[in-house]
Amino acid sequence: MASPVTIPRLWRMKEKQEKIAAVTAYDFGFAQLADAAGIDVILVGDSLGMVVQGRRNTLPVTMDEMVYHTGMVARGAQNAMVIGDMPFMAYQADTAEAIRNAGRFIKEAGAAAVKLEGGVSVSPMIRALSGAGIPVQAHIGLTPQSVHQMGGYRVQRDEERLVADALEVEQAGAFSVVLEGIPTPIATKITRELKIPTIGIGAGPACDGQILVLHDLLGLSQRHVPKFVKQYRQLAAEVRSGLEEYAGEVRSGHFPAAEHCYD
Ligand code: KIV
Repeated sequence: MASPVTIPRLWRMKEKQEKIAAVTAYDFGFAQLADAAGIDVILVGDSLGMVVQGRRNTLPVTMDEMVYHTGMVARGAQNAMVIGDMPFMAYQADTAEAIRNAGRFIKEAGAAAVKLEGGVSVSPMIRALSGAGIPVQAHIGLTPQSVHQMGGYRVQRDEERLVADALEVEQAGAFSVVLEGIPTPIATKITRELKIPTIGIGAGPACDGQILVLHDLLGLSQRHVPKFVKQYRQLAAEVRSGLEEYAGEVRSGHFPAAEHCYD
């Protein structure tokens, strides 16, 4: 029988070279489905700003919104580890604020851990959160909250900086690290050098696990799909055709039929 995914279990998976399957989710229904599908880790990503709220980037997402969505996901996940994503400006200003905000994910929403973006520059926050008993997943490489600083969503190729960031977040106490938008050889090197599991998104096959945005992998949205995404389904087209059929039948009077009515 399946049992809850814990940090020691993720570490053992790395040791045994068992890949970690992670996905984002933002509500109860999809969290239940991801959990039932045997997904190991569900990240309530601030990507919800784009795929749920329809914003241009993740920057406007607030702590209250993240706590609200993380609560729904935590209620839907029996075994998958739920991680809450710290939104822009929830942790950058100072460590005390970072601890208060991260604590909300654990205490109010029922998450097991939090994720935050950045390497060397956020290691004091990772250290402070870990010290306060809040497990942290780091996120380096293409960090969407730095979109303006990076000049767009660009693959990050500065090997020296990436390796330094990876070593620093591990040293600071992160239990895992997301590697986003990093060339395969650099992600492979980082994965070999770190003791903690690396979770890749656009970082090649050597990472200890993979994560994709749910809406991208299921073809649920009509947004641009990056090169690193594999679309396993095309649900947007399916949903649209179901809705068109329903609307057509309402207008033609074919729905509701006798079997949908009470005597
Ligand atoms: O916000 C998010 O969904 C993420 C993942 C893509 C790693 O940060």
